[in-house]
Amino acid sequence: MFPIEKIRADFPILQTKVYNKPLAYFDNAATTQKPLQVIRAITGYYEKENCNIHRGVHFLSVKATEAYEDARCVIRDFIHAQHSHEIIFTRGTTEAVNLVADSFGKKFIAEGDEVITSVMEHHSNFVPWQQMCLQRKATLKFIPLLEDGSLDIAAFQTLITEKTRLVTVTHISNVLGTINPVKEIIAMAHQHAIPVLIDGAQSVAHMNIDVQDLDADFYCFSGHKMYAPMGIGVLYGKERWLEEMPPYQMGGEMIKDVFFTHTTFNELPFKFEAGTPNVEGVLGLRAAIRYLHDIGMDQIEAYERDLLSYATQRLLGIEGLKIYGTSKHKASVISFLLHKIHPYDAGMIIDKMSVAVRTGHHCAMPLMEYLKIPGTIRASFAFYNTKEEIDRLLEAVKKANEMLS
Ligand SMILES: Cc1ncc(COP(=O)(O)O)c(C=O)c1O
Repeated sequence: MFPIEKIRADFPILQTKVYNKPLAYFDNAATTQKPLQVIRAITGYYEKENCNIHRGVHFLSVKATEAYEDARCVIRDFIHAQHSHEIIFTRGTTEAVNLVADSFGKKFIAEGDEVITSVMEHHSNFVPWQQMCLQRKATLKFIPLLEDGSLDIAAFQTLITEKTRLVTVTHISNVLGTINPVKEIIAMAHQHAIPVLIDGAQSVAHMNIDVQDLDADFYCFSGHKMYAPMGIGVLYGKERWLEEMPPYQMGGEMIKDVFFTHTTFNELPFKFEAGTPNVEGVLGLRAAIRYLHDIGMDQIEAYERDLLSYATQRLLGIEGLKIYGTSKHKASVISFLLHKIHPYDAGMIIDKMSVAVRTGHHCAMPLMEYLKIPGTIRASFAFYNTKEEIDRLLEAVKKANEMLS
C-alpha cells in the first residue's frame, strides 16, 4: 500500500485553499512542492550550522563543510556515479547545461563541427547549444519526432557524421512526457566516440537513475523539480571530460594559487564551483533525496504510472480533447488541447476551479513550431497527487470545454 495520507501530511502547502476550495496542484513539471523534511533541513541549517564552507578551521565552518560534502556523496549514490568529485553543484539544470556548452564548447568545438539535439528540448537544453554553435560557427542538428511524440531513432543515426562532437537530449520531455531511450542513444553515439549530455530535469524525481549503467558523459538536473529548494542543481560529468574542460566561472574556491600574472586552478569538483555555494540548497537537496529514498523510487514510479493511466483514460473521454505525446514510454505528464480553444483561456477557467495546471509553450517554442500549435494545457503529476484530485481536474476541463466551445 502506498502511504498517500502520510505523504500528503508531509507537504503543508497541499492543505492550502485556493478560492475557498482545496488546491489540486498539477504543475509539478514546473516545480514540485517541498516536504517538511526539506523545509526543516533548511531552517535547521540556519538555526544551528550556518557558516561559509571550505575556508575555516572553526567548529561551525567544519560542520557546515562536512554536511555539504556529505550531500555530494548522497547525490553520487542517488544517481550511481562512480566518484563524488564528478558531482558539480550548480544553480540548476540551466546552469549545468550552460557550463558544459561554454566549457566543452571552448575546448572541443571548432568551426564546421556539429552538435545534435532534438526538436523536443526545453529552451535550457536548446538555447545554450544554439548560441555556442553560432559563436563557434558550428552546426546544430535536430532529431525529429515520430507521430506518437517519441524520437525518430532511425533519423538520429543518419544525423551522425564524422563532424559530430556532442549529442544532447532530454531524458523525459517536459511537454510530451516521452521517456527517451537514452541508453540506446548513448550507445549509438559512443560507437562513434561522441559524448552525450542528458537533461534529467524531468526524470530524477520519477525514476531510478544510474549514470554508469546509462554510460552518460554528462547528466544534469534541478533540485526544485525533485522536492528540494530552488537555486540548486547538479551537473554530473565523467571525470575524464571534467578534467579536460576549462573552468566556467572564475573567482574564489576554484583556484589553487593566484599570482599577479596567472592562476592555477583547483582540482575537481571545486574547479567548477566558483564563489560561495548555495549550502542551504545543497542540504535541502540531501534531505529531498533521503525523503525519496525512504518512499522508494520503484514505489513512486508505480504509483505515478497508475495516476497517468487513470488520468489519460478519463481525459480521453472528453469530447474534442487531443493529447500530445502518446508514446508507450511516458512519464506522468499530459499535454492536451480542447478543440481550437486557446490554452490560456481554458487555463483561466481551470484555475478558478482551484486546479493548478500550466498553459503555454512550456519553454519549448521550437517544439510548438514543429507541432504547429500555440501551446498546450499541461497537467503533470507527483506522488502526492490522488485520483480524487484527477477527478477534479476532469470536472474543471469539462467546464472549460463547455464554456468555451
Ligand atoms: C526538460 C527540462 N530541462 C530543463 C529545464 C530547466 O530547469 P531549471 O529552470 O530548473 O534550470 C526544465 C524546466 O522546466 C525542463 O523541464
